[in-house]
Amino acid sequence: MEILNTILFWLGVSVFLYIPYIEIFCKGVPHYRTAPIIRDEIIKRLQQDIKKHETSSPYQIVDMGAGFGFMAMALAKAYPQAQVVGIEIDRIACWSARLIAWLRGIQNVRFIRGNAMAYDMGDTDAVTIYMGKKFMSAISVKLADELQQGALVFSNSYKLEAPWVLLEKVTIETKYPHQGWLYVYKKQ
Ligand SMILES: C[S@@+](CC[C@H](N)C(=O)[O-])C[C@H]1O[C@@H](n2cnc3c(N)ncnc32)[C@H](O)[C@@H]1O
Repeated sequence: MEILNTILFWLGVSVFLYIPYIEIFCKGVPHYRTAPIIRDEIIKRLQQDIKKHETSSPYQIVDMGAGFGFMAMALAKAYPQAQVVGIEIDRIACWSARLIAWLRGIQNVRFIRGNAMAYDMGDTDAVTIYMGKKFMSAISVKLADELQQGALVFSNSYKLEAPWVLLEKVTIETKYPHQGWLYVYKKQ
């Protein structure tokens, strides 16, 4: 019983500390990962675009707000011919992602510690986002300004705003709370 109390106590303390940590270091966005089934859907949908990519430079994918890097690593593993960049504002998550990628021997992914809103998307062919509703307006403007024509955007759970026109809303059943919709866009 005493052990259970101790475990519950420390669990409570961790949750209590995690909330301010997220507010201070992660812009209020927790490190939730995209559900694997949604990740697989994005991977499947990228296949055609990557196949017809003709320029000599590798296909570039950016994961805005990479967390512990699972989305970026899954993309990199699925498409070794592509270059994947995960941008993460939280130092601990970013270093963890780098370590996991190194331990797993994934070489076509890199993680940048910084604000994804400051990254130049000019050479990017596809973007994945799962960052929180409050950022979608600013993200919509940034991607509309910077992405090249034909670039794909996959947004987990939250829609882009105008001038973006929805290409497809994919409903996916997941066990992850609040996940179940993938919004797909193509830059016109
Ligand atoms: C919900 S996680 C998503 C993780 C991963 N992209 C995935 O889909 O599995 C969102 C992450 O975005 C990070 N974040 C929030 N605002 C950011 C910003 N402006 N620039 C970079 N990272 C940011 C948070 O620290 C958090 O780890």
